[in-house]
Amino acid sequence: MIQMINTRLMTIDDIEQVLDVENNSFALPWSENAFRKEMKENDLALYVVIEENGRVVGYAGLWVIGHEGHITNVAVHPQFRKKGYGDLLIDRLLCEGEKKGINAYTLEVRVSNRPAQKLYEKYGFKSVGIRPKYYEDNKEDAMIMWK
Ligand SMILES: CC(C)(COP(=O)(O)OP(=O)(O)OC[C@H]1O[C@@H](n2cnc3c(N)ncnc32)[C@H](O)[C@@H]1OP(=O)(O)O)[C@@H](O)C(=O)NCCC(=O)NCCS
Repeated sequence: MIQMINTRLMTIDDIEQVLDVENNSFALPWSENAFRKEMKENDLALYVVIEENGRVVGYAGLWVIGHEGHITNVAVHPQFRKKGYGDLLIDRLLCEGEKKGINAYTLEVRVSNRPAQKLYEKYGFKSVGIRPKYYEDNKEDAMIMWK
């Protein structure tokens, strides 16, 4: 079957499908309300989604803080991983960030999360330090990365 793949900016109508991705991706998922706030109230928020045959199967977002992009989340639904969609999401996010004048990006990632670290490294992110016990659930350290 031919797959139709599309990336675009996220809207409030995507929240239901994004929540499905979110709840299947994170130990501490964001709530529906958190996404609503991002879409409706946070002028700094920039989010993109990826669709396969019209279904939202991944999303990524950042906050535009001056010329810096603070990446909040990147996730692909488990059933749709390892198909290059994480790559496409980062590509689109960085492209949208560039339009906003962003010239540096940062994020935190669990020290145990090699798949995500490898994805970010592929795009030039480098580890610059650790935030000890950053994650509430298991007190895991966060790796701080910058590009
Ligand atoms: C990280 C994540 C977004 C990757 O999405 P994906 O669609 O599977 O990624 P892609 O297929 O586009 O792969 C892109 C790159 O990511 C890295 N990668 C992805 N899965 C990997 C794995 N299981 N092991 C190692 N590297 C991996 C590789 O560098 C890969 O590039 P390559 O195929 O050229 O080697 C996905 O695993 C996910 O949603 N994880 C749970 C949520 C999460 O941890 N998000 C990050 C929070 S900071």
